[in-house]
Amino acid sequence: MPQRRDRSASAKGLVVLGGRTARPAGAVWLVGAGPGDPELLTIKALKALQRAEVVVHDGLVSDEILDLAPKAARRISVAKRKSRHSYSQDEINRMLVAFALEGLNVVRLKGGDPFVFGRGGEELEAARAAGVACHVIPGVTAALAASAGAGAPLTHRGAAQAVTFVTGHAQNGAEPQLDWASLARPNQTVVVYMGLSMAAPIASRLMAAGRDGATPALIVENASRADERRVTTTLARLAEAAAALSGPALLILGEAMALAHSGQGEGDIEVFLKEAWA
Ligand SMILES: C[S@@+](CC[C@H](N)C(=O)[O-])C[C@H]1O[C@@H](n2cnc3c(N)ncnc32)[C@H](O)[C@@H]1O
Repeated sequence: MPQRRDRSASAKGLVVLGGRTARPAGAVWLVGAGPGDPELLTIKALKALQRAEVVVHDGLVSDEILDLAPKAARRISVAKRKSRHSYSQDEINRMLVAFALEGLNVVRLKGGDPFVFGRGGEELEAARAAGVACHVIPGVTAALAASAGAGAPLTHRGAAQAVTFVTGHAQNGAEPQLDWASLARPNQTVVVYMGLSMAAPIASRLMAAGRDGATPALIVENASRADERRVTTTLARLAEAAAALSGPALLILGEAMALAHSGQGEGDIEVFLKEAWA
């Protein structure tokens, strides 16, 4: 049956279906918030935030970024909590779909990039399965901010012909199952997300597979944030250096990390107090 459109209603964004007034379908926007510094947000992400009616966000998203959404927008934190109820991925998926089906513009704001270890793919699939429009806005992933801040390129002529992003996380605290032989080859950079607590087994596996213990390594905690910390070390001493940090942090290994800014020596921690963001 053809839809009857009421001019005054459609001018307000409402559609009249058989005499009933309904909101047009909403949409889910999977938006990358970047690594923390609000200036690393893309213009597209900013525009999506400014149009948001609901913002469903992770714990890693800063207040400065959340404040860019309209005051009237509903904000829901789905951060992992130790003491209170955390939302399961399935609950988050259902929440996004339910708000969009109510006709709301839903921004799912995620640290870094939504498709880099961010479970954005699962949220996209849930929206698609429910027939809800889903748009993705990329963000600056933590590895890019960490390498830029340290002045150490992820690829570098003669020192790093490839870069690989891996996760150090595995179910129930088990060791990650990675292709150690491939990651142990020289002249490449390996970036480990969520690997701080697994630094010891990761370093052991890589060295057992043949990567030189003297390979330069960098650990960056809170990349791009006011409390960013960097530790320069070597693969052999990675676990010792990691023990001084509590995350969120990246382990970055490879010959090109020799270019990273260091303190007065191996293992020194540089704390970079950034200029005010505002
Ligand atoms: C669930 S993953 C999300 C990654 C995110 N989607 C991205 O693209 O950066 C969380 C992990 O990313 C890394 N991470 C996120 N933000 C970071 C930051 N500002 N500095 C260092 N590491 C960060 C840490 O390894 C953290 O445990």
